[in-house]
Formats: sequence, structure tokens, C-alpha cells
Amino acid sequence: MTENHETIDALQWEKRTFAPSEAFKKNSLVVGTHLYDEANEDYEAFWARQAEELVTWAKPWDTICEWNLPFSKWFVGGQLNVSYNCLDRHVLAGKGDKVAIHFEGEPGDTRTVTYAQLLDEVQKFSNVLKGLGVQKGDRVNIYLPMIVEAVVAMLACARIGAAHSVVFGGFSSQALADRINDAEAKVLITADGGYRRGEVFALKPQADEALENTTTVTSVVVVQRGNNPVDMKQGRDHWYHELMATASNDCPAEPMDSEQLLFLLYTSGTTGKPKGIMHTTGGYLTHVTFTHKYVFDLNPEKDIYWCTADVGWITGHSYIVYGPLSNGATQVIYEGVPNFPGNDRMWNIINKYKVTIFYTAPTAIRTYMKWGVEEPAKHDLSSLRLLGSVGEPINPEAWMWYHENIGRGNCPIVDTWWQTETGGIMISPLPGATTTKPGSATFPLPGVGAELLDDAGKPVTRGGGYLTLTHPWPGMLRGIWKDPDRYKDAYWSRFEGRYFAGDGAKLDDDGYLWLLGRVDDVMNVSGHRISTTEVESALVSHPAVAEAAVVGANDATTGQAIIAYVTLVGGSEVDEQVLRNHVASEIGAIAKPKTIYFTPDLPKTRSGKIMRRLLRDVAEGRNLGDTTTLADANVVNELQKRAAEAPSED
Ligand code: PRX
Repeated sequence: MTENHETIDALQWEKRTFAPSEAFKKNSLVVGTHLYDEANEDYEAFWARQAEELVTWAKPWDTICEWNLPFSKWFVGGQLNVSYNCLDRHVLAGKGDKVAIHFEGEPGDTRTVTYAQLLDEVQKFSNVLKGLGVQKGDRVNIYLPMIVEAVVAMLACARIGAAHSVVFGGFSSQALADRINDAEAKVLITADGGYRRGEVFALKPQADEALENTTTVTSVVVVQRGNNPVDMKQGRDHWYHELMATASNDCPAEPMDSEQLLFLLYTSGTTGKPKGIMHTTGGYLTHVTFTHKYVFDLNPEKDIYWCTADVGWITGHSYIVYGPLSNGATQVIYEGVPNFPGNDRMWNIINKYKVTIFYTAPTAIRTYMKWGVEEPAKHDLSSLRLLGSVGEPINPEAWMWYHENIGRGNCPIVDTWWQTETGGIMISPLPGATTTKPGSATFPLPGVGAELLDDAGKPVTRGGGYLTLTHPWPGMLRGIWKDPDRYKDAYWSRFEGRYFAGDGAKLDDDGYLWLLGRVDDVMNVSGHRISTTEVESALVSHPAVAEAAVVGANDATTGQAIIAYVTLVGGSEVDEQVLRNHVASEIGAIAKPKTIYFTPDLPKTRSGKIMRRLLRDVAEGRNLGDTTTLADANVVNELQKRAAEAPSED
């Protein structure tokens, strides 16, 4: 039986719309379509204008973009220094006393760092790195908690032309060793430990373990943060504060070629060894400076910006370090977890620093939903004027909760779609110009080309398809470190001449894009290709449900059957059948889960993404594959126990 069906079936159509308010538009940077119109005329010229306006160059470029599919170079022949753009130019403009970072440690300690102080510390640390033999073109590994020194270390590398490779502090010693070895890093910057959930977690012992399996690192710099006991290896290990005490604070920023490697960031993807995603200098800085300014409608003189990501992820690179600092913003950096000492820590911080722009992830929002509206209600959140979301599809109910309880009904929400590979935001509203719909990332930004294709590579104008990018953009990855073939194969082989992002999406009648998650997560039920995101959204739209993860498990009758794992809102109870019927009424009987498991938590990666692969293994009774990136292994053990009991059916 071959039935004509869509590449991915689009089942759910959200109708609510939110136009920017007159009050918001009044002070907004973009209220009309002029940026889109300009970019549609000539996207290269558009990006060149941004590069000229937003970035300071030591030498102008000769060519805007050299496109040698699939390799691009931007602003070729131009020279600039990223650290100069993030620091020196603001200080030279008389803004040295402006606060760059309000640091809030998990235990409650604080530190305020001005642009002049940050420049001073970065110059010193640049000299420290030079003193340890680091030269332009070398790689430096960074394995730190969310502290100011992480920002300093990254900017110091950029200042002297060394590429950093930041490894998230929650990763194991093996993950660190793999990344050090692949990058052949010369220096490792770590800390004794950091604070998490009220306790010190040790980093240096993990680093020591990693270094036993690496040969390239000659020096280790250790920041004192946790004050936990550590071994210091004579000749190799140095305390940060000791090296800094004698370092000169004069290290002029050396202009770098636009295509100088700025950093490697490893992304695990679904299979195989981590890929070292390469980002370079001029194009990347242009992309993140532009998007940080316009997507967040930044007024650097008034706004207090807070992105809750960790510097170990691309969001931290682009929207804590490079975008905000290049724009001269004032921001909050928080070290710890959202529920220490209480479930209202985030709202407490927003009130304390009068945060105006708040950028977080759907997984965090759903956790806040679970904790209840009384937590944000304890604090005055009236300073907020704009909210952002990143990392996963945000389901309409989470969007509405965020809108009502955090934004108090009057903050635009920018749902930003992008990837480690894209370097910066690609699909997002411009908050003063775009009418949003809950759950839709809306439209490609000016200068970005995106198109949905079907299985055969034909454009899709309504309904589901594969999200592809049609032309190069300045922040795009330049390749995979030491593996150009894998780069071509992973991103450029599915559709000719197109970057395929790995995500499914759908287009509605008004041309809005709705991200549907990784296409690996699409289920095939009786010949219908149903996205896990849509069923999850339907489940979460039930008032008792806080979070849901859906997978397709092999089924003799239907090909795959829909299995749902559901976390309820604190104190709620609901019958499985009620939820199954709710999904049927929201999106149709075809999407009814065959089985629903209730669970207090879902298995997630350290970055908060649901590990559906593990849930599929559980549902199909398989042994679990690689669980090393799991944040809390107990969650799956519990689910396995429950899955062993007979599943319920219609
Ligand atoms: O599946 C998409 C999802 O996250 C993937 C990229 O993950 P990563 O490289 O870790 O970067 C995360 C931060 C940019 C994408 O392929 N994703 C990210 N943002 C969204 C999203 N899915 C839907 N909506 C988003 N706003």
C-alpha cells in the first residue's frame, strides 16, 4: 500500500498570534521590513554592511565571500582582533567604567567587572599564555565552571590568535581527554572545582585523570574557585592567581586574518566520535554581533542581559562571550543550578540585577512550570522586557507559560533556531517587527536562506519537510577539525548544494516555520511520519502535564508505535486514558500514544536535551547504548524497571 503522504505529517496548527505592542515598537531597533528587503536584494552586500557597521577592522577585506561549495570564507583579506572588538574599543570610547559582567556565584558571592577591568585581566592572561609558550595557531583547552575566568581565558586566546576548545565542566575526564587529543592542545585551563547544588564539584582531579591519557599538554593553569584540595604537578601545573600576580597588563591586540581559527567546539551528534566544529574570526564575529543586537533588540546603555547557558556550549560562546561583549552590553553570569538554595533562584537574580532580557532553554522553562507559578510570583519581574528561547522546539504551552508568568503578558518572546554549526541565530523573530505564534521560530533572519525540502529534494510550501540552508552565511562552520570528508558527508550530501541541518520543520499557511526536532526522531506510524515534537506538545497542553518525551518503538502492526514518557506538574494526577484521548482530540487519533509511562524525570543530556535514543532502547527492551552524556543515570534505570512490566493498550 503506497499512499501519498507528506515527508513529515503536520498535525498540529497553532492559531494564536502575538503582534509586537506599540509600546515595545516605540523604542525597538527594527519595526519594519527594511532589513529583510535589503538582504533579499543582495545577502552578501547586506552582511558586508553589518560587518562594516558593527565590527572594527584593522584592515578592510578584499572579498566579501568566497564560496567554494561546501567551504566558505568571509571578508577575505580583512584583519581584526576579536578581543579588541569585545574590549579595547569600548574602553577607548570612554566606556571603561561600564559594567561588563555582574557575576553571581552559586553560594551568593558576587563580583562586578567593568570593561576596563576585563581588558586588564585579559591582557595579563594573554601574557601568561604567551609565557607558557602559546603561540598564534596553537590550541588551548578550557575546562572551567561558569566563572569570569572562563570569559577571560577565551578572550585571551582570541587576543593572541590561539584557538580555544572549551569543554563543558560537567563532562567526564574521558570526554576531556578525547577532545584534548583531537585538538592537540598545548595548555589546559581548569579550576580546582566549582559550585553546584550547594556543593563543590571537583574539576582538577578529572583534569589530572584526562591528562594521563594525553601527551600534548605541557602546562596546566588552575583557577582557585572551590578551594577543594588538589594535587599540583611540579613544572606542569600553575595557579592562575600566582601567574596573574606577576603578569604585565600590556598585551596589544594583534590583528588576525578574518579566517584565523577562533575556536573549536566539539558536538557529539547522534553517532560516532565528537566532531570538532571550526569557527573563524571575521564572519563569526559579524554574525553574532548582528544577531545579538537585533534579535535581542539590544540597547547597550539600558539593558541588563542574562543568558543562562554555560560557556561550554555554543550558546555560551556566541551569546555570553562574543555577541554581548562585542556589543558592549552589561550582562549577568550565574554559576550554579536554578534550584539552589530554592526553586526561585532565577527569579531572585532577575529582580536583584533588574534583568531586562532573559535568554533560556525550553527544558528549563518546563522545569520552572513543574515547580509552579508561585516561584516566579514571589519576585518582582517587572524589569523584563524581552524573553528568548533556544536549544529545542518550545511547545506552545511552555511558550504561553513563559509569556504569562515570566513576561507578565507584555514581553515579546524570540524563539531562536540555530546550531553549534551555524555559529549564530538563523531563524527567529525580530521582536519589534515580527508577529509571533507560540511555538514557531517564525522566519529566517535577514541574510539567511532557509527552505524546506521533501524526500525527493523538492521545495515544500506547506506542511512538513527537511530544513535546509540555501546559501552560505558568515558564522557558518568552516569544517570539522582534521576531517573535511566527514564535513561534506555530514552536512552536504543529502541534498545537492544545500546544507542540511538534520532537523525537520513545517510551514503553515502564513509561511511561519515550526521546528519539529531532529529527523532521526520522526516516527513512522502506519505510514504516517509523525514528529515527536507535535505529540509532546499535545501532551504538554494538558494542564496536569509538565513535560513529555515521545519515541517510536517497533511495532508488528503499525511499524512503529508511539510511546510517551510523561512528567506531571507537582501534585497533579491524571489517568493514562485521559491523556491518550487528549492527544487524539488535540491532533488526531493517529497520534495517540500506545503506552504512557509516568516518570518524575526524563533522561537528559547535560545540556538539557532529552535523550530519545535511550528511551527508544527502553521501550524496545534493549540494553542501553552509550550513557556517558546522561545528566542523571538513575532516571533510565527506573524507567527500565517500569518498562519490564506489561504495557497497557487500547
Ligand atoms: O534540533 C535543533 C535544536 O538544537 C539543535 C542544535 O543543537 P546544538 O548544536 O547543541 O545548539 C544548541 C544551541 C543553538 C538543532 O539542530 N534547536 C536549537 N534551537 C532550537 C532547536 N529546535 C527547535 N527550536 C529551536 N529554537
